[in-house]
Amino acid sequence: MAIALRDVVKRYTDRDGTSIAAVDGLTLDVPDGVCLGLLGPNGAGKSTTMRLLTAQSLPDEGTIDVLGHEVPREAKQARALMGVVPQTDNLDEELTVRQNLEVFARLYRVPRAGLREAVGRALEVAHLTGRAETRVVNLSGGMRRRLLVARGLVHSPRLVLLDEPTVGLDPQVRADLWGLIAGLRASGVTVLMSTHYIEEAERLADTCALMSHGKVIADGSPAELIASHAGEHVEEHEGSPERLAEIEGLARRAGLPTRRTGPTVSVLRAEHIPSSLADTLADGGSNGHRILHRPANLEDVFVMLTGETVD
Ligand SMILES: Nc1ncnc2c1ncn2[C@@H]1O[C@H](COP(=O)(O)OP(=O)(O)OP(=O)(O)O)[C@@H](O)[C@H]1O
Ligand SMILES: [Mg+2]
Repeated sequence: MAIALRDVVKRYTDRDGTSIAAVDGLTLDVPDGVCLGLLGPNGAGKSTTMRLLTAQSLPDEGTIDVLGHEVPREAKQARALMGVVPQTDNLDEELTVRQNLEVFARLYRVPRAGLREAVGRALEVAHLTGRAETRVVNLSGGMRRRLLVARGLVHSPRLVLLDEPTVGLDPQVRADLWGLIAGLRASGVTVLMSTHYIEEAERLADTCALMSHGKVIADGSPAELIASHAGEHVEEHEGSPERLAEIEGLARRAGLPTRRTGPTVSVLRAEHIPSSLADTLADGGSNGHRILHRPANLEDVFVMLTGETVD
């Protein structure tokens, strides 16, 4: 296992004295060479989990093992082997792009002889070769993000932690970064990636762990998760609020899960809709009732299990 967390608890105490468990009995394994997607609504505990792995936060309970090192006791050794891309940008704004990469390369003890090459490679990864001498303060938001990712890879780590790596990137750069992450995985690097973009998880993750309130509530490959929680097909209804409420009630009474997204109600496991009910559901009753049939996806699973929307 590249990462093994057992019954980990991390509590934070607010100024007013109330204590919350940001991570609340988390058990999670990330096998070597796998890309694991950590999904969960805002506040689920994803970033806290990442910080526990790097010992930026210390656990109150449980055990953490990273690449054979017990964290936080052997955090230094573990950190030397991993690359970290945090959710919040902590680049040095006064330094240039190249200097930011050099500082990290030295910090991670990239041998002097290979330093130039490592920095050059990272610049290419970030598509910032032409901006190497620009100070970070003068970069666009997306460029900063790209630099943050490249900085985490400058020492060719065996394990990479990516906390929402593609937030704020334009579609082209996001697709590039997906290619990069797929490439890392193909070369045997272990990747732990948190994301709100379900499509990102569906494309890149071998396994997904769905987090809610500090623990994993479901895990498996995207296909497994979809099959076991949302079934094969979804029938999406659009119509008046009254009609949608009616559909929700009918579907639930037939034992079928439903989810709401703005103006629609989706009936999951639609392949199990009894034929008697199918007609009732399809009977518009009011104008503007429309039905869309589509395959179930990971977002259906997410919304169903966490009861929350993605963003
Ligand atoms: N330093 C801190 N002090 C107090 N509470 C904190 C601290 N860091 C995180 N929390 C709380 O812990 C919980 C989990 O936060 P965390 O940042 O891990 O969530 P997340 O899953 O990364 O969310 P997001 O998707 O919004 O990034 C939240 O309720 C948050 O307010
Ligand atoms: Mg976060």
